[in-house]
Amino acid sequence: MFLNNLLAALSAVASIVHARAVVAERDTTSIGELYGYATNISGLPLFYGDGVAYIGNVRPQNISFATNVTFAEVDEQLVASPTNLTLTTDGNWTTPRLFIDQTAGAFDSAGFTTSSNTTVTTTGFTLFGTLLVWESTAGLLESKWYATPTDQEGLWYLKWNVDNVLAMSAVPLVLKNLAPTAE
Ligand SMILES: *[C@@H]1O[C@H](CO)[C@@H](O)[C@H](O)[C@H]1NC(C)=O
Ligand SMILES: *[C@@H]1O[C@H](CO)[C@@H](O)[C@H](O)[C@H]1NC(C)=O
Ligand SMILES: *[C@@H]1O[C@H](CO)[C@@H](O)[C@H](O)[C@H]1NC(C)=O
Ligand SMILES: *[C@@H]1O[C@H](CO)[C@@H](O)[C@H](O)[C@H]1NC(C)=O
Ligand SMILES: *[C@@H]1O[C@H](CO)[C@@H](O)[C@H](O)[C@H]1NC(C)=O
Ligand SMILES: *[C@@H]1O[C@H](CO)[C@@H](O)[C@H](O)[C@H]1NC(C)=O
Repeated sequence: MFLNNLLAALSAVASIVHARAVVAERDTTSIGELYGYATNISGLPLFYGDGVAYIGNVRPQNISFATNVTFAEVDEQLVASPTNLTLTTDGNWTTPRLFIDQTAGAFDSAGFTTSSNTTVTTTGFTLFGTLLVWESTAGLLESKWYATPTDQEGLWYLKWNVDNVLAMSAVPLVLKNLAPTAE
């Protein structure tokens, strides 16, 4: 009787350990939609347009494919899923990851890619509270997001400013997984 109870207890412990191991292997956290906040940008969605990351509610001209996206963090990568489900029936959404250009001196557009390479970085993203930050290998948290106006009113490119220098027309921005409160 005692042995049976002991075995039952051990088996319960084993399954907890097993469940923890599975969670550690696939570290997935739901993030939801991300919104940009800056001077004159009061919580506009970060969205996908032909592989480029935009901020705004305005659809870019001359674009073949644009959709709002929700994100999930998988092993410090941000995997995007379209919110416009009518567009996924084609089966050609490649669940791209958000990338930034971290090469020295870069001040380039963020975008979406399925595979990383030496010029684009897809790992290191994490939430700090509601803020989306990037964690360096040294453990420093960085937020070097900027918004650069496009030639369409109410539409910006999302950029990563490696040197964090001021640039004409670009404004520093924070990204939060928190929608603006309704007015
Ligand atoms: C914010 O908008 C106001 C009014 O349109 C404009 O005068 C100001 O220059 C803008 N500020 C920035 C940082 O874009
Ligand atoms: C969109 O395409 C039209 C026709 O090719 C062109 O005239 C226009 O300048 C383009 N607009 C933008 C914002 O690229
Ligand atoms: C998927 O294919 C359809 C039809 O060919 C096209 O209109 C759409 O832009 C494609 N989507 C992506 C993400 O490439
Ligand atoms: C994203 O959602 C906003 C708010 O619902 C909407 O105004 C905008 O057009 C959407 N963007 C795209 C690319 O569908
Ligand atoms: C989804 O995309 C299609 C094709 O671009 C568009 O007609 C439709 O309005 C979009 N729906 C939403 C909810 O954005
Ligand atoms: C790296 O990936 C980005 C995004 O997909 C692409 O624009 C760029 O051309 C690629 N660079 C190389 C060297 O493959």
